[in-house]
Amino acid sequence: MMIPVTCRIGLQVSFLLLLIGQTHGRVTAPARLKAPVDKPFTLTCTLSKDRGETLREVRWLDDKNQTLLSYQPGNRDSVSGQQHVELATSPKDSSAITIRRVGFRDEGCYTCIFELSPSGSKQGQTCLTVDAEVTSERNKTAVSGKKASLSCSFGLPEKVQQILWKHTPAQGESTEVASFAKRSDPMIEPAYQGRVWLSASLSDSQLTIQPVAIQDEGCYTCFYETHSEGTKSSVVCLSTYVLPKPQVSYKTTSPGVIEANCTSVSRPPAEIVWNVETDNRTIGPPATVHLRQDDGTTLVISTLTVQSGLLKDVSVKCLVHHKGLESPIAVSMNTKIGTALTILISVTTVAALLVMSLCFCLWKCFLRKEDE
Ligand SMILES: *[C@@H]1O[C@H](CO)[C@@H](O)[C@H](O)[C@H]1NC(C)=O
Ligand SMILES: *[C@@H]1O[C@H](CO)[C@@H](O)[C@H](O)[C@H]1NC(C)=O
Ligand SMILES: *[C@@H]1O[C@H](CO)[C@@H](O)[C@H](O)[C@H]1NC(C)=O
Ligand SMILES: *[C@@H]1O[C@H](CO)[C@@H](O)[C@H](O)[C@H]1NC(C)=O
Repeated sequence: MMIPVTCRIGLQVSFLLLLIGQTHGRVTAPARLKAPVDKPFTLTCTLSKDRGETLREVRWLDDKNQTLLSYQPGNRDSVSGQQHVELATSPKDSSAITIRRVGFRDEGCYTCIFELSPSGSKQGQTCLTVDAEVTSERNKTAVSGKKASLSCSFGLPEKVQQILWKHTPAQGESTEVASFAKRSDPMIEPAYQGRVWLSASLSDSQLTIQPVAIQDEGCYTCFYETHSEGTKSSVVCLSTYVLPKPQVSYKTTSPGVIEANCTSVSRPPAEIVWNVETDNRTIGPPATVHLRQDDGTTLVISTLTVQSGLLKDVSVKCLVHHKGLESPIAVSMNTKIGTALTILISVTTVAALLVMSLCFCLWKCFLRKEDE
């Protein structure tokens, strides 16, 4: 069966009108709208006016039928209304108002009334739902043994019934960590008690872990369960650093040849370079081995072989670079410090001997005087 073209267009038009919204009399307005919280939002009604009709006044009412704004078209001075709304520019025969900053209280149905002469008033209605998304911070890193705070926020705490935090490690199942429901205290799962805390807030939720362990790595999802918008969530991931505490050891392997090891245990693995005084050239290429430890850290050993004569002239340092450090840690093979220390010890010894002999002399003199 063929539908005549005009009929099809008519069907399409009425379908479009259904999509656009309700038509109360001859006022068109979207039936339902979602407005993001904390942002301005504009509501619009469109009138289809008959020939010979004049628009006298437009009024906007809120959910409680209180006048939000009213004006006479073409007369800017006639605009009167509440502080939190303003008249927006709109095409001819339509009216628009802007809610300056949408909040939870702005949810509800708004009525626009067009006073026409001579035919009377025509009205339209739009129902507004205030909506928000959960946001979280950027991914975080924390130093093992220290504190980590993860947070999420949601602009409509009035709609939240419960907040739930789950932890998903890189390998393994998600587990519940903590939750906070309206009119109760934050709940921490037994496995996390004593080292995890949750803030008692339905808008800004903060999960604190102290001390942080390597097993705490992974992603954390905060779920905000609301009564009208379903469950909304966001993810923030945590990496745990173990900072290196490098050490240098060395031994003479054959006459005139010294083998030095610079070792560091860290997570993620550190990068070790050797620095010969102000020059960064290494004497012979260093050999580096990486050994994964059971606790998730990596032992890095960099071995450098040098002529023992060189250690007398210049100071040899191992530089350990790590993501968790602002600047690399330098560990000296303390050849120069060793010389300085020897000098210091010698000077101290000589000084001590001098003082002792002085005391001895004084004591002798004193005793002599006593005897006399
Ligand atoms: C607002 O007025 C309409 C009729 O114009 C009425 O149906 C509705 O119940 C009123 N709402 C309130 C909250 O008074
Ligand atoms: C956070 O980390 C996860 C996994 O570690 C990654 O998939 C995601 O893209 C990261 N997000 C940001 C914003 O860096
Ligand atoms: C350096 O480390 C290697 C293992 O990589 C070990 O065999 C060697 O004995 C170490 N040398 C010193 C001086 O500690
Ligand atoms: C060593 O230093 C020179 C300049 O002093 C620089 O160009 C070079 O990249 C450095 N090498 C390393 C491995 O850091």
